[in-house]
Amino acid sequence: MQKTKAGIINVTSYAGVELARLLHQHPEVELFSVTGRSTTGQKLGNVFPHLASLDLTIEAELAGVDLVFSALPHKESAPEVISLYERGAKVVDISADFRLKEASEYPSWYGFTHPTPQLLAEAVYGLPELHQPQITSARLVANPGCYPTGAILALAPAVKAGLIEPDIVVDSKSGISGAGRTLELKSHYSEANEDVTAYALDGHRHLPEIVQELKQLNAGQTPVITFVPHLIPMTRGILTTAYASISPGKLAGDDKGRQELNRLYQDFYRDKPFVRVTEMSPHTKHTWGNNFCLVHPTIDYRGEKLVVISCIDNLVKGAAGQAIQNMNLMLGLPETTGLETLAVYP
Ligand SMILES: NC(=O)c1ccc[n+]([C@@H]2O[C@H](COP(=O)([O-])OP(=O)(O)OC[C@H]3O[C@@H](n4cnc5c(N)ncnc54)[C@H](OP(=O)(O)O)[C@@H]3O)[C@@H](O)[C@H]2O)c1
Repeated sequence: MQKTKAGIINVTSYAGVELARLLHQHPEVELFSVTGRSTTGQKLGNVFPHLASLDLTIEAELAGVDLVFSALPHKESAPEVISLYERGAKVVDISADFRLKEASEYPSWYGFTHPTPQLLAEAVYGLPELHQPQITSARLVANPGCYPTGAILALAPAVKAGLIEPDIVVDSKSGISGAGRTLELKSHYSEANEDVTAYALDGHRHLPEIVQELKQLNAGQTPVITFVPHLIPMTRGILTTAYASISPGKLAGDDKGRQELNRLYQDFYRDKPFVRVTEMSPHTKHTWGNNFCLVHPTIDYRGEKLVVISCIDNLVKGAAGQAIQNMNLMLGLPETTGLETLAVYP
């Protein structure tokens, strides 16, 4: 059978490079065409020697592809995605340009007016653990942000079951590649090494996405989320710790309650191949280079607070791996195709 031909717009971003690496091992899809801005005309293997076996030249425009991944920065991605969509291609947008359902949120969070608000209703939020049936029949999938992936997967079972009060704290620590490949002062070695810092204290743009998705899980509750992201000196990975008060009478505050909580999470993620509910508190290293999200739910020592820890690789489950998981569903392939790689540990 002929392989599906895929293309990557902006292969020179970290998300784009990671997509190329993962697609190389995909048995049903051929990476056929890639674009890049400052490297047009160069061999992909000359720009990124680890990708030389793909034998592709970086083009100005994609050609001859059935499915496209856009790894452009937000605002830049929307016009390309709209044009491809109108020409009939299947598209997975890794930027934020189709994630929010309310067009009115784009000016305040992303600083631009959305060019096609009507397409926001049609785009499917690409978190397969919540929206698998819709992704399967979608032509435009908005791949989730890296922080939202870790935060939503940590909280979804508890929110859906009505276990917790709406006031939720999400504390996330990200490796530096989460800030992208574009040079910025905060990602210089001498700024980031041996340093940890909180940022976006007045509101990070991933917050509306987290609220939007958690809100849909429980009609009786609108989550009020305090989200504080941190940059830490590692290349990949996001560790999220989420805290919320347990609603009165919902869960015993002892080991029996912990076991019940674990069962609830196990049941929620039973048929979800890329989420593992762990017995131990997971490490980011347990997801390094693979598409898993590891989730560890527990109750604090006073028996009052839910504490959930989640780990992902921001470039895999937080970007390129999840995009391929979405592509698999859109093409009617098993969700795990080409994504079976285990994490690199230690
Ligand atoms: N990094 C992550 O962990 C992560 C996770 C989830 C989603 N995302 C999303 O994935 C997309 C790519 O992000 P990234 O973090 O990998 O890299 P990035 O820093 O957003 O992009 C890096 C590359 O994009 C190119 N670029 C910059 N502005 C451009 C423009 N206006 N038009 C065309 N190309 C432009 C530049 O390439 P040239 O030097 O060739 O011009 C630059 O090397 C973004 O939308 C981001 O939000 C990233």
